[in-house]
Amino acid sequence: MTDRRTLRQNQGPSATRIIGVGSFQPERIVTNDDLSKIMETDDQWIRDRVGIVERRFADKDELLVDMAVKAGTAALIDSGVDPSEVDTVIVPNCTMPSGIPNAAAQVADRIGIKAPGAFDLNAACAGFCYGLGVASDLIRAGSAGKVLVIGAEKLTDSVDPTDRANAIIFADGAGAVLVGPSDTPGIGPVTWGSAGDLVDTISMRDHRYIHQEGQAVFRWATTQIAPIALKALELAGLEPSDVDVLIPHQANLRIVESIAKKLRAKGAREDMDVADDIRYSGNTSSASIPLALDHMRKTGRAKTGDVVLAIGFGAGLSYAGQAFICP
Ligand SMILES: CC(C)(COP(=O)(O)OP(=O)(O)OC[C@H]1O[C@@H](n2cnc3c(N)ncnc32)[C@H](O)[C@@H]1OP(=O)(O)O)[C@@H](O)C(=O)NCCC(=O)NCCS
Repeated sequence: MTDRRTLRQNQGPSATRIIGVGSFQPERIVTNDDLSKIMETDDQWIRDRVGIVERRFADKDELLVDMAVKAGTAALIDSGVDPSEVDTVIVPNCTMPSGIPNAAAQVADRIGIKAPGAFDLNAACAGFCYGLGVASDLIRAGSAGKVLVIGAEKLTDSVDPTDRANAIIFADGAGAVLVGPSDTPGIGPVTWGSAGDLVDTISMRDHRYIHQEGQAVFRWATTQIAPIALKALELAGLEPSDVDVLIPHQANLRIVESIAKKLRAKGAREDMDVADDIRYSGNTSSASIPLALDHMRKTGRAKTGDVVLAIGFGAGLSYAGQAFICP
């Protein structure tokens, strides 16, 4: 007779890896000069302070869900995996227009993934690294087989178009990875955390537009994030000199460069390639890391087998990062 107190728990494969990457950006390119026609700003100020040359804005009827479908489909095509083999879909985002419905279920349905576990995950600009960590651990626990993680944002709906501190930074897009089991370790442990005492530094106060205390966020990101990135390496059993490609959340090029400088001071190589996707994509929050990964793979900057270190940070305040092997 079965002991009623005995309950079975799952156990999955010991290792996971990223097996496909894809992204999507809206067609409409918005240059700094375009913005200077509608607000008091100029190309040089934006390039110097944030490093952005141009960004992509979605059209009015192009939704977060539409972009997520395109990025997720591209990741599946890249992996060669059929949608029927995917059982879980996670959509990190912070700009779905309402709490319900979530993005994940409808995105999955439109991609052709039938009845998956599907949920959104909101850790703002840290969302992709949270999602990747959750996906990897779900598989290792035996709760999921293959997980599609799609960071997608339509930030232009949440930015006052006349607010020159924010309207120059944020943009729209989506990036996705497919995560699956692996014979060898391909995704290091996630390190994550938060600083809820700084919650007011980035928020949607009126439930409409993003407000941020730019300098406070800048100080926090340039002092607190590099140590988290180093911890992610340590958890993965790696040294800073092992990193081939660094992909920090593309918040501001000066923040990205500051993190890279701090890692180099701890032994990261001078030839470590540092993502600068913000130049042509802007800040796309939870989409920025997979977007940069996809672009760096397509241009040969991130190669199969490279050690990639990703680190996300943003509203919450929240942060998360992990090392992984480039597919
Ligand atoms: C937002 C950010 C670019 C603003 O830069 P800053 O140097 O802090 O700018 P400040 O708000 O202090 O303003 C400095 C001056 O530039 C002006 N300014 C602000 N935005 C401007 C713009 N788009 N164009 C031209 N001038 C601008 C200000 O009015 C101010 O002028 P003043 O000195 O005459 O009063 C910067 O703080 C930043 O990037 N912070 C991090 C934000 C971030 O990464 N957020 C995402 C986290 S996920």
